Amino acid sequence: MHFLNLKDLSKGQITELIQKAKKLKEENQYSEKLKGKFLGLIFEKASTRTRISFEVAMAQLGGIASFFPINDLQLGRGEPLEDTARVISSMTNAIVLRTLEHETIERFSAFSSVPVINGLSDLSHPCQILADLLTFDENNGEIEGQKVAWIGDYNNVCYSYAEASRLMGFELHVASPKEFWPSKETRNKLSVTFTEEIDKALSNSSLVTTDVWVSMGKEKEKDEREKSFKEFKVTPKIMDLAKKDAIFLHCLPAIRGQEISPDMLEDERSRVWSQARNRLFVQKSLLLHLLKD
Ligand code: CP
Ligand code: NVA
Repeated sequence: MHFLNLKDLSKGQITELIQKAKKLKEENQYSEKLKGKFLGLIFEKASTRTRISFEVAMAQLGGIASFFPINDLQLGRGEPLEDTARVISSMTNAIVLRTLEHETIERFSAFSSVPVINGLSDLSHPCQILADLLTFDENNGEIEGQKVAWIGDYNNVCYSYAEASRLMGFELHVASPKEFWPSKETRNKLSVTFTEEIDKALSNSSLVTTDVWVSMGKEKEKDEREKSFKEFKVTPKIMDLAKKDAIFLHCLPAIRGQEISPDMLEDERSRVWSQARNRLFVQKSLLLHLLKD
């Protein structure tokens, strides 16, 4: 099976995967569970957390991972994606792809004979949400029935939050300038509440989260976005509008002074550093789920 979006897993599988990640974190041990398995990583865009967590996860599970920047492959010189997918998947056990367009991952996975994992596309970032769910669980317990506030751009990470809200049964409130909301048709399909009023999204929230205003691939819109999102910033003062025990998450990298105030990452309610480290444990759990059998 491929892991292209969160909905490729059921609620039960996600819950199991998070519990397994918790156990792997407690044990924090080297094992040989994936001995003889090979993971390929093909990235079209920069990455720190996703790349390193997958590489370390494979090493700690006794397997091997190799990173292939797209321009070092014949793919970068025009070899068809479908041919590349058939060849690489004939020699590896799983492949992580980070692409500009989600369609590239879909086309690749259609020709791959081994599981393909979405390591971020313009549409979604399902691996990130697994780490966020683990971090919430560790701090506040069950997410079902809770309210989550997303402040800023409805982007790839937020799309995966929207999927998670449907699957895991939490409310997602997105505070964002109207001109950046998805179309009415898309909004009707989502179980997400959109608002331009930050306080409405924050009130009674147990989790407050955000991401950069300008995602990779959107650089051309930088000036327009920086102007439109100016007020959609998370600060310790804004956090006071959420529940007393609310935590703050950010997938990182963050731009201090834009979507967060300079002091937000170090605020006592921020869990961003354990959230980033949790990428390792959910990646291990996901790899075991996809490769063990
Ligand atoms: N959050 C995240 O995916 O980070 P990287 O871009 O560094 O992988
Ligand atoms: N939304 C960001 C996430 C980076 C991890 C981007 O796509 O650049």
